[in-house]
Amino acid sequence: MNQLIAPSLLSADFSNLKKDIEMINNSNADWFHLDIMDGVFVPNISFGIPVVRAIKKYAKKPLDVHLMISKPERYFSDFKNAGADIISFHYEASNHLHRSIQVLKDMGVKAGVAINPHTNISLLEDIICHVDMILIMSVNPGFGGQKFIENTYDKIKKLKNIILSKNTNTLIEIDGGVNLDNASKLFNAGADVLVAGNTVFSSDDPISVIQELKK
Ligand code: DX5
Ligand code: ZN
Repeated sequence: MNQLIAPSLLSADFSNLKKDIEMINNSNADWFHLDIMDGVFVPNISFGIPVVRAIKKYAKKPLDVHLMISKPERYFSDFKNAGADIISFHYEASNHLHRSIQVLKDMGVKAGVAINPHTNISLLEDIICHVDMILIMSVNPGFGGQKFIENTYDKIKKLKNIILSKNTNTLIEIDGGVNLDNASKLFNAGADVLVAGNTVFSSDDPISVIQELKK
């Protein structure tokens, strides 16, 4: 069983990003989760390619890039060249999911598909054997610090059953509202990777919080 933690830099101190990057380097976190928002697919704008490139200079762990943008295929190679190791894009933002996954794989980057809270897990059955990871949104995408949606546990179980029945190695990542109360329940339900923004960065001792989330 994987129990990976991916702190989201969306809640980091943008005026001193290097300090937070070093904190993650020195912690038990596994990946950097980078939330890219375009103000169209989601009602917020975060940061883009130059910032990913700057983070890559100092990050000593894989960059897990979550694209919350319309027509994400337009920017796959830019994010890969900026240093992304895993690129997840939204089911709801892509007309040709199967082709887009293939484009990412041909580039040599891990391919993830993200789904919004309203999107049913069963829609993933035909593509699951092609993707490295499914990112289940456990809040509506766009902002950090929102309340976790409880229906997520059911979605994890359904997805785990599909993964087992198809015998694939697809990882399940949960993104939004992860905290010290629900982390172990999420891992027990079948999650492999937990994203945490507010829980990590609102703490005075983020390194201990990351350690606690991993337990
Ligand atoms: C939300 C983003 C998340 C978010 C998680 O749109 O995809 O990665 O930053 O933040 P928390 O952990 O604060 O809910
Ligand atoms: Zn995210």
